[in-house]
Amino acid sequence: MSEAKRLAAEKAIEYVEAGSIIGVGTGSTVAYFIDALGSMKDPIKGAVSSSDQSTDRLRAVGIEVYDLNATGPLSLYVDGADECDPHKRLIKGGGAALTREKIIAEASARFVCIVDPSKQVDVLGKFPLPVEVIPMARSLVAREILALTRAQPVWRQDANERGVVTDNGNLILDIHGLAITDPLALESAINQIPGVVAVGLFARRPADVVIVGGEPPHIL
Ligand code: 5RP
Repeated sequence: MSEAKRLAAEKAIEYVEAGSIIGVGTGSTVAYFIDALGSMKDPIKGAVSSSDQSTDRLRAVGIEVYDLNATGPLSLYVDGADECDPHKRLIKGGGAALTREKIIAEASARFVCIVDPSKQVDVLGKFPLPVEVIPMARSLVAREILALTRAQPVWRQDANERGVVTDNGNLILDIHGLAITDPLALESAINQIPGVVAVGLFARRPADVVIVGGEPPHIL
């Protein structure tokens, strides 16, 4: 699938205007996009980054990283996804960067999502839905999610069996066993639970364009 990711990422360069400041997401598909940005003949002015990981990679290829408060609205955001439905609604947050990704998507006029074909689904939810939570609210939020969805939230652990800590200092619950027939309603309901920082459902603000990597790439 890495070849499909690279093809999607390289196609997304066609949406990038020279001299602009763009939003940049997180993940292995975005890593290809950052590398392609770094070799543009007419470079961008800079980027707003959704994670420390992407910030490091952007700087490594010579791209200046800006604070969203300083840039104001952005014309373009490019990011990957864990799942994408036919309405361009997404599950994101497999890389634990969902909150900053959501903020930048909201600030951007156009959201171009880059995926390999394995990310396309008819109904979202096979990929466990990530929720970023304030640490003291972890158990409360897990109980409320179970009551709301009847699906099981699991506290995300790292390779050393320690709770994953996001760039914002919070924790991640992954909700397993969902079939999300009304993504907008579920996004709104989970957002209402005190202690939830963000849920990785992008239904209220879906992608505008989805590029599915292949020879040639397929545009939704
Ligand atoms: C990070 C994300 C990523 O976009 C998502 O996990 C896809 O990653 P990859 O491109 O590595 O398959 O939401 O929080």
